[in-house]
Amino acid sequence: MSADVKPFERIPVIDLPEDYSTRTGAFLAEMYRAHGPIFRRREFGVDVVYLVGPEANRFVLLSDRLKFSHHQGWGQLFGAERMFGDGLLTMDGPEHDAHRHLMNPAFTISYMDRYVPLMNRIIRERIADWGERGEVDVYAEARKITFDVAAEALTGLRAGPEVDHFRDIFSQMLTLGLFVTSEEEWQTRSAALHAELDALLRPKIAERRAHPTDDILGLLVTARDASGQPLSDERIIAHANILLVAGHETSTSLSAWLLYQLTQQPAVTQRALDEQLALVGPTAEPTLDEIKRMRYLDLVLLEAERFYPPVANGPRGVVEDFEFAGYHVPAGTYALYSIAASHQLPEVFEHPEVFDPERFAPPREEHKRTPYALVGFGGGPRVCIGINFAKVEIKALVSQALRRYELEAVPDQTLVQFYQVTAMPLYGIRLRARERVGEAG
Ligand code: HEM
Repeated sequence: MSADVKPFERIPVIDLPEDYSTRTGAFLAEMYRAHGPIFRRREFGVDVVYLVGPEANRFVLLSDRLKFSHHQGWGQLFGAERMFGDGLLTMDGPEHDAHRHLMNPAFTISYMDRYVPLMNRIIRERIADWGERGEVDVYAEARKITFDVAAEALTGLRAGPEVDHFRDIFSQMLTLGLFVTSEEEWQTRSAALHAELDALLRPKIAERRAHPTDDILGLLVTARDASGQPLSDERIIAHANILLVAGHETSTSLSAWLLYQLTQQPAVTQRALDEQLALVGPTAEPTLDEIKRMRYLDLVLLEAERFYPPVANGPRGVVEDFEFAGYHVPAGTYALYSIAASHQLPEVFEHPEVFDPERFAPPREEHKRTPYALVGFGGGPRVCIGINFAKVEIKALVSQALRRYELEAVPDQTLVQFYQVTAMPLYGIRLRARERVGEAG
């Protein structure tokens, strides 16, 4: 450690306020203003270091990324690896890189052609009764859509009883920790859930091994590791689980908030609708090519990513000592790079408290002035593998919902973004939906 570098103990210490979970980004941005880009908190004898701002993001995600471990970050969070297995999000080092390399082809934008028809079908079926119901919680609706889409695209399960069973197992896995009272009970119940999951997915894997397909599961079963061996069923199931864990809640909350924002500013809604009508027409389902050309919706989506980032902080275990912003941080520390706080810095995003899609359009392009300022999907070599999948799915949903329904937020509801591992609108988001029959054209 060089003489002008301050020791770890000198890093400013913060306490989390009671309302931390509902204003995570704003609070950590205040701490950034008060203390600079690094501060820490001590909880249950463990030091947690916060790294905030574009420079910190670049440090963690790119320049010094090998000093940080996903396995000791995401893998340990709420026992994620123990429950879901070791998948892409929780792996480290060359093993991660090999598996990422293997899975990348199924997540390129051109590959989304295979998923757009199933996305469109599921969206159409799921939103069909919004008009009849008159009022819907778009958070609950989006959750059903994103689960059905992910389950079918990732595992080949068909919407209906199979996917419903999968949904049920999955939600029990996600919430098991909240209900069990002992380690023994956890073991027994988690073993039972894994047995159910195996019974559901192993036949799908066997089917793919016999008749390879070009979807994600098909790709995983035909893949060979460095020594020419196929991936085990266990590993394939872990990958499918982790893709679903990483992709489901995140896409759900972002789509729900985006639909909500499209009820808030008439000028924004009208421009988005005009673009849809010009590109897709009043009733057709969007093709991938049209989805790629939804430039205005891209701006609104970028602003939703900034304003409502589904992941507030990226967790990491520090595996090698480092120096950042004049302080020394030893290996063994737990670190969080803060996505939500980075998106709230006024020196980067003008009036960050205002929802303003135009900030991403030329000539402002605020996200391009400072690298690693907008990191809703992470960044660097470990940027979210599902970014194309999520954006295409969300745009397909908005495209169908906006052209079919006139949406209006139910007045006087309490809207709160609540952060645990990922974000959710705590009391849902209720919108009124009125069919645009004969209006859209
Ligand atoms: C709006 C939707 C989504 C958001 C905001 C989001 C956000 C993120 C973020 C912030 C990271 C990086 C975490 C870090 O640096 O610690 C990440 C990684 C990841 N995401 Fe997403 N995600 C979304 C959708 C998806 C979808 C749909 C999938 C899969 C189908 C997915 C799969 C993954 C995986 C596997 C990783 C780990 C990649 C790696 O480490 O190589 N995500 N995501």
